[in-house]
Amino acid sequence: MKFGHFDDEAREYVITTPCTPYPWINYLGTEDFFSLISHTGGGYCFYRDARFRRLLRYRYNNSPADVGGRALYIRDGDDVWTPAWMPMKSTLERYECRHGLGTTKIQGSRNGVTAEMFYLVPLGETAEVCRLTLTNESSVVKTLKVFSFVEFCLWNAWDDQTNFQRNFSTGEVEIDGSAIYHVTEYRERRNHYAVFGVNAPIAGFDTDRETFLGLYNGLHEPEVVLEGAPRNSLASGWAPIGSHCLEVSLAPGESRDFVFVLGYVENPADDKWEQPGVVNKQPARALMARFSETAQVEATVAELRDHWASLLEISTVESPDERLNRMVNTWNPYQCMVTFNMSRSASYFESGIGRGMGFRDSNQDLLGFVHLVPERARQRIIDIASTQFADGSAYHQYQPLTKRGNNDIGSGFNDDPLWLIIGVVAYIKETGDFDILSEEVPFDNDEANTATLFEHLRRSFHFTLENLGPHGLPLIGRADWNDCLNLNCFSETPDEPYQTTANREGRTAESVFIAGQFVYTAPDYADLAEYMGFAEEAGAARKHAARMEGAISEHGWDGDWFLRAYDFFGQKVGSRECEEGQIFIEPQGFCVMAGVGVDDGRALRALDSVAERLATPYGIVLNQPAYSRYHVELGEISSYPPGYKENAGIFCHNNPWVMIAETRVGRGDRAFDYYKRIAPAYLQEISEIHRTEPYVYSQMVAGRDAVREGEAKNSWLTGTAAWNYVAIAHHILGIRPEFDGLRVSPCIGAEIPNFTVTRRCRGALYRIRVTNSLKHGEPLLKVNGEAAKGTLVPYAPAGETVDIDCET
Ligand code: BGC
Ligand code: NOJ
Repeated sequence: MKFGHFDDEAREYVITTPCTPYPWINYLGTEDFFSLISHTGGGYCFYRDARFRRLLRYRYNNSPADVGGRALYIRDGDDVWTPAWMPMKSTLERYECRHGLGTTKIQGSRNGVTAEMFYLVPLGETAEVCRLTLTNESSVVKTLKVFSFVEFCLWNAWDDQTNFQRNFSTGEVEIDGSAIYHVTEYRERRNHYAVFGVNAPIAGFDTDRETFLGLYNGLHEPEVVLEGAPRNSLASGWAPIGSHCLEVSLAPGESRDFVFVLGYVENPADDKWEQPGVVNKQPARALMARFSETAQVEATVAELRDHWASLLEISTVESPDERLNRMVNTWNPYQCMVTFNMSRSASYFESGIGRGMGFRDSNQDLLGFVHLVPERARQRIIDIASTQFADGSAYHQYQPLTKRGNNDIGSGFNDDPLWLIIGVVAYIKETGDFDILSEEVPFDNDEANTATLFEHLRRSFHFTLENLGPHGLPLIGRADWNDCLNLNCFSETPDEPYQTTANREGRTAESVFIAGQFVYTAPDYADLAEYMGFAEEAGAARKHAARMEGAISEHGWDGDWFLRAYDFFGQKVGSRECEEGQIFIEPQGFCVMAGVGVDDGRALRALDSVAERLATPYGIVLNQPAYSRYHVELGEISSYPPGYKENAGIFCHNNPWVMIAETRVGRGDRAFDYYKRIAPAYLQEISEIHRTEPYVYSQMVAGRDAVREGEAKNSWLTGTAAWNYVAIAHHILGIRPEFDGLRVSPCIGAEIPNFTVTRRCRGALYRIRVTNSLKHGEPLLKVNGEAAKGTLVPYAPAGETVDIDCET
């Protein structure tokens, strides 16, 4: 544990050296205002939309890494240092960073002074609050100067990085006591500003970057701090910053707190000004008054702790494996919530500028957080479904601010519609809220064209059926789950995006993955149809599923595994006949999850092929052999060097499909083994290789063909979080809500001899004790002491507690 360790009691990850193999970050915020913060204080914050309402400037892909956003400097006599280590890389006698649930505490000590910065975004506030505690641990009086620092982004993050001819002239600030106001563009169409205040009188300030740093200086050598005197600079154009100078004298043993507030304020359009040219600061003053005392901060910290405690107690496990417990109880659901809040917008790998909410991504994210915030899941479903087209197809993405489909990307990803069914099914199984199916929901956000949510699902289902290819398998369109399998794209021109470029007309390229997804979805869809009173539709859906299963058997089976696709020319993709890319992970996972081949041994064969050909110590790679050259008929997948991303990388998102498939054929030991290969808490010891945070999943780990095998990238915002939660909680530990009851059916292998799960569902509490003796084909259940039949426990009325004993 070279870089840190888990503190399970506090639900924190404790980083003990600033020299981690990559910036290890955390997220603050729960609803509208969010911050990204690294273990050395880097990062930025934004209100709702990381592109259009960004408060702090952050420099991506920079060297040195992770500079920008915020900093804090201390001047102790002539000694200048930064307690978060960066940006000065000061030698610290003690350093610690604790990333917790929506809080980050960074502490550094030098020459008898300890500075602790405790950051959070309080519930209900649109502000990042930092409590700074300075302690004099020496035996002499310390006379310190503290310089805060934030660099403002001129709101639109894309413009901020590109449109210098304009934005070098627009920057404006106001000063009012200890508060610095960032008011760029407020004079025109913006009704919002940022405020950066501190709850103490200041000795001075700076708001102009060049004055503060010096034109040719980096953040590690700010002239003002090195000279020890603020210059009270007023930014006018160029780069506005916020820096307070505090003078602090501390007796030996004395400690003092300061509270910094960095807030976002929006005024009504007709109440923008206090007087002509003077910004209306009332809401900002009220905000700062709510944090003028340390005790007020403590109260919001307690509130935030309670908030998380009540969310996380909904589903917990106690097992002899502490790594399993900390993943399931804390870090995996935490990542699911962050992914829900951010979608794929803002991380240290996503710039916050480029991508909207994915139709497919958002439906899958739902699987991981629906039990935590079902009301928000409901709203999300309505938002997603409202962007669907009347023919059942879907925009691939929509914009979080407008909630409208994104025309730049358009549609044509033929797996998208089916994910809506999977998302809605998960929501109803968790909540029992069948009423949502009767909700009127527009198509393409057109209020004049609406239908019930069930009708949306029906169109999703039939969209697949209306778009079948020559083998009776679903047409792939632009791509399916694998965004890089672009079988109709034929791109030969650099700079052309693979996902959006004009495709060749053709109705030949088919996806076995979508076929598996269809068979997987059909039984639940049929149950919903029945529930709605459409018995005929239910019967037809079951027949369609059987027919699709037949098409997979006849045209989608390659002998030892499921084929991946047929290309534009009708050639096989993912077959032993191929020169490269002979086997792919996705159809093995999804077809077996759907039950295809479970009765006749093909499921086992496919999963054995995965074990033989795709499994590595770091996880299961996507395909083998990797593509060694560009195949124009396959698209982006073959654009990546071997072993990275979709070209034979370990694309962690699809590993849990194989885990679930292994439980489907009863091999819990294999499922759990695969789980441990990629679950971050098990990878702490190899952080030097893995590099990203050991408390959250990354999208990709470089595969065996890669130069940098085992190295992870793209941590935090990935469907990996939701699917691994489903794999471990629902299928390996085996506790999952179904339409009519809670399924208790663990499948974890011999390594975990016993465990207890506490699960709240539909208002009742289930306490499940599992003795994993592996003696019975089907687990034996006792419900409240009485032997029960089968493994489905009917839902108890809200408020009741149900005790379940389960012996496997
Ligand atoms: C990546 C995919 C991603 C797609 C769309 C591709 O470059 O490899 O993982 O889904 O872009 O953003
Ligand atoms: C990332 C995208 O967000 C997701 O939608 C896609 O399924 C995977 N990449 C695989 O290509």
